[in-house]
Amino acid sequence: MTAPNAASIAAVDHAITSRMSARAFTNQAVPRELITEILQVASRAPSGTNTQPWKVYVLTGAKRDELVTKVCAAHDAIAADPEVGKQYQAQYDYYPTQWVSPYIDRRRENGWSLYGLLGIGKGDRAKTHAQHQRNFKFFDAPVGLMFTVDAIMGRGSLVDYGMFLQNIMVAARARGLHTCPQAAWNDFHTIILPMVGAGENERMVCGMSLGWADESDKVNTLHTPRVPVAEFTHWID
Ligand SMILES: Cc1cc2nc3c(=O)[nH]c(=O)nc-3n(C[C@H](O)[C@H](O)[C@H](O)COP(=O)(O)O)c2cc1C
Repeated sequence: MTAPNAASIAAVDHAITSRMSARAFTNQAVPRELITEILQVASRAPSGTNTQPWKVYVLTGAKRDELVTKVCAAHDAIAADPEVGKQYQAQYDYYPTQWVSPYIDRRRENGWSLYGLLGIGKGDRAKTHAQHQRNFKFFDAPVGLMFTVDAIMGRGSLVDYGMFLQNIMVAARARGLHTCPQAAWNDFHTIILPMVGAGENERMVCGMSLGWADESDKVNTLHTPRVPVAEFTHWID
């Protein structure tokens, strides 16, 4: 055991607090060894009875590009005819079916901040579609990660999964890389899962973009707020 010291505290805190959802990446390739190292560190995440319910598909090169082309085409088809969207439904409710305050307020603020920063006005459907489609290009990141879980597992596995995903994002930051976790991909599991060779028992948890952030792109200047500790913490004594 290493005793806590200012440098280790600062290093861990920096990796955590410098994590943000990057939505523009450079095309600089990420070496396979580096991705493996990040996944290895991340796999130290705890999970109930050490079930380790994660399974990761790493997409790079031609396969990544093929997936991007296919999902962008499906996304365009939905825009042209919303009926088509019925074919593409996520396998679990990531978001509530009914939005209430304060979550809806935070969600709206998040959307307005992002679209405001990019100069996309309310009702500008073409620009909104294009920005949303950036998800399906992995925001130009050279690496796309797809995460699945076995359908037999309970809801607790999604709790375990969150820790694993956060570990990936923090380990990536420690190495200078950035990420964007993405539930947007979930609707397109019928395209993604067969393409990566997932079994019938696998369900999409989410996707994630991984790479070096394009620091010159203003989309990456978005700084999201957080509710103060005093507001979400109740001291019972
Ligand atoms: C599981 C998960 C899925 C997400 N899905 C998307 C997504 O599909 N597209 C996107 O642009 N951001 C997505 N986000 C990013 C959130 O919008 C972001 O985490 C939140 O606004 C806080 O901002 P920050 O990550 O920069 O701190 C997702 C985040 C999580 C944890």
